[in-house]
Amino acid sequence: MARTLLVATLVASLASFYQFLAKDLIFNTFGIGRDVQAIEDFPFTCRRLQDKKLEACEDLWLDDDSRTLYAACAGTQHRLSWNQAMGKLNASARRPGGSELVALDIDSPDSKGVFPMRVIKPTGYVGASGDASIDLLGFDAQIVDDTIHFYFVNQRPSVDSNKNLLDSSKIGPNATIDVFEMKRGSSQMKHIRTVWSPQVWSPNRVAVLSDGAFVVTNDHSVKLGVRKELDPIIGGGNVAYCSPSGDCHQATTMRLKFPNGLTKGKDGLIYVPSSVDGAVRVYQLHSDKMLELVDTIHTKIPLDNVSPDAVGDLWVPGFPNYAKGMAAISNPLERESPTTIFRIRKAGESYKVDKVVEDKQGKVLSVVTTVRHDAKTGRLFLGSALKPFLMVCDPK
Ligand SMILES: *[C@@H]1O[C@H](CO)[C@@H](O)[C@H](O)[C@H]1NC(C)=O
Ligand SMILES: *[C@@H]1O[C@H](CO)[C@@H](O)[C@H](O)[C@H]1NC(C)=O
Repeated sequence: MARTLLVATLVASLASFYQFLAKDLIFNTFGIGRDVQAIEDFPFTCRRLQDKKLEACEDLWLDDDSRTLYAACAGTQHRLSWNQAMGKLNASARRPGGSELVALDIDSPDSKGVFPMRVIKPTGYVGASGDASIDLLGFDAQIVDDTIHFYFVNQRPSVDSNKNLLDSSKIGPNATIDVFEMKRGSSQMKHIRTVWSPQVWSPNRVAVLSDGAFVVTNDHSVKLGVRKELDPIIGGGNVAYCSPSGDCHQATTMRLKFPNGLTKGKDGLIYVPSSVDGAVRVYQLHSDKMLELVDTIHTKIPLDNVSPDAVGDLWVPGFPNYAKGMAAISNPLERESPTTIFRIRKAGESYKVDKVVEDKQGKVLSVVTTVRHDAKTGRLFLGSALKPFLMVCDPK
């Protein structure tokens, strides 16, 4: 009798495990049975922009008015050695000089389709180990008059009091949010301030609010260890709010599963994509500086950074094949990952999700982590956290 009960309980709990966790993992995360289309099926001509400067550009931001694309690029080898979310924490293998912000003039490509570019040099900035190197991941920017304020996630290594590197693979890195300002068109950006908080332990991307306040995703529950490995199943990431003076607190109450690059929509709502369950959660910020979940948009594909365009649509890349995605992330110079690009558009009270382009073989679009849509020309710019190129899709 007792045994029957035990078996029944087990079956019931397995069934509910399947219902709530495994089903999500099998159909959304791993993408079993998903139909992915070839890139030729879509009305775009896509190409890769190969350049030493454009390696491993995790995140992009488009200044629509001044027609400039900004890319935060680390270098492929650098990213493979130094990336907190992926558990790569060998600080001494980082690229000398760190990562770079590169600006591309999008309206003046040369006859080969190459855009003029310049590296934006940081000034007035001293990093953890005493030099000027920064470790870029996700970022956001705000235009104030003719000046751009950049808010960067800076994956600083941990150091001792003499600025010597500590072993970040044992104690975790020590990320900050660093704010720089730049006159439009300049080749230098000036450091304004550093925000460091115990409430921001695993920052992925920032969304700027107003007066210097921002929200930021912690993509995992902890910096390191077993609990982090369980995050895809039980969740553990969150969104933190940081005030203009740099005081941060946890602003969501739910345990999120790998919340990736969030953004503020043109409607003022905060959009948070998940790299596990494929949902974009929509939050409203209240006067108590807490975020209330007001909607959930389901794409059913693990997502990376979500980015608004000039007309208010949201663009987000997804990984429709988990196994191939992970293989390409670990070995980006040899493997390709299938890619899906979604547009999310407000439709009355709800949202419409459209697949805009897909690349089943990863022939051109591979390991895409950010997509920026130029609403003026219809062109798409795509960045990859790991691949040694940017990607561009022109509408046919
Ligand atoms: C870290 O990187 C350095 C420099 O590339 C290398 O010499 C060292 O073996 C690496 N350490 C580990 C633990 O992989
Ligand atoms: C982490 O960064 C903060 C702010 O810069 C600094 O005060 C602290 O000493 C750093 N800790 C480590 C272990 O690097």
